Amino acid sequence: MRYNTILFDLDGTLTDSGAGITRSAAYAIERMGGSALPQEVLDRFVGPPLVASFMEYAGMSESDALRATEIYRERYSAIGWRENRLYAGIAPLLRALKARGAYLGIASAKPEIFVRRIAEHFGFARFFDSIVGITMENTHADKTELLEQALPEGCDRSSAAMVGDRLYDMQAAKKLGLTAVGVLFGYGGREELEQSGADAIAESVAHLREILLPGEPARRGRFITFEGADGCGKSTQMKLAAEYLSERGWEVAISREPGGCEISERIRDVVLDIRLKGMSPECEALLYAASRAEHVRQVILPALAAGKIVLCDRFLDSSFAYQARGRELGDDFIRQINRAAVKIAPDRTLLFAGDRAVLARRMRSGGPLDRMESERDDFFRRVDRAYEEIAAAEPERVRVIDTNRGVEEVFTDVRAEIEALLD
Ligand code: TYD
Repeated sequence: MRYNTILFDLDGTLTDSGAGITRSAAYAIERMGGSALPQEVLDRFVGPPLVASFMEYAGMSESDALRATEIYRERYSAIGWRENRLYAGIAPLLRALKARGAYLGIASAKPEIFVRRIAEHFGFARFFDSIVGITMENTHADKTELLEQALPEGCDRSSAAMVGDRLYDMQAAKKLGLTAVGVLFGYGGREELEQSGADAIAESVAHLREILLPGEPARRGRFITFEGADGCGKSTQMKLAAEYLSERGWEVAISREPGGCEISERIRDVVLDIRLKGMSPECEALLYAASRAEHVRQVILPALAAGKIVLCDRFLDSSFAYQARGRELGDDFIRQINRAAVKIAPDRTLLFAGDRAVLARRMRSGGPLDRMESERDDFFRRVDRAYEEIAAAEPERVRVIDTNRGVEEVFTDVRAEIEALLD
């Protein structure tokens, strides 16, 4: 079935907002003088209207429940809304639905200002044609009303679906004649969804994708490499980037070279071993190429085929910088030995460049030096120069990031470069 209109619930369907909601609910109950609830009970606050949950699970009167909801919102609006993340795979699914021309909407029992704030912050507002939540005038709106508002005018309901994780979602969808798609990765169980009339139940985001986009394979992922001389701070930035992308619903694979899979990690041990000082430059270059050959086939290509964003700490540019130039083997030699090994180029390379004295200091403060790190200054000067030339030759692929700044400032640039690749 091809759905032209798809409405989504927010909490427990697009976002795993459990932490922010349950912590805010626990805080409100404590402030109201109630006794603490076990986590399984707090989990039931995710999704349904809060007033009803405070009455049902914390035994409050309606007026107490209204007061508790206010206290809840104080904490939620300050910190709770950020204690949130999209389920892995949701972002590429939304992008694919949008690309196919579907009308996408959100219908949530949360105040609309929070829904919008979350959708902007976590980068998915751009996929949606309508975003509906409760408003100050309409605090008691039930899910059916919200869905109705989120539907486009003159919508053909026979090709419209509602995706949600709780019985409220399924019941409202059925009432309006929409296909009700339940998801099990949220906060409702199979029984709840079945009993409330779900037409289909998705066990995972991948399964949801099969239901909404049958027979359409995932789009190839994106391959982003992080390069720079030792001590440039690229590993820290890569971790921040991975966290940023996963919070926003992308499936991320992180890896490194040399290494990334068992055989290549073993080659890494050899090539970086400080005791193997006498290794010839040719052997060194071939070991890096061998490690890459295995890594590309075992890790990078399968992850890209599965639609993941692959972040890799170093790749082929390192061999040009360190072996072609640092070891002076020449570009042709490196190109030749890597031609058979590597059948893929990065979609984007972030090159971290900084002051040589600062890089050297950082490298020396990072524990015992390995075989490469113990090279002389003129070696690293050749490496720096090579990276500059690589960046100048391929400005579309290679983006230079200035690392003579604080981690947060550097990350602002990293984030902008990555964002630009996601559409
Ligand atoms: P890495 O783990 O990135 O070290 P660091 O975290 O200190 O930057 O890389 C290991 C070393 O291997 C590094 O000194 C660069 C070197 N290297 C090459 O010389 N050629 C290559 O092709 C690759 C991938 C790495």
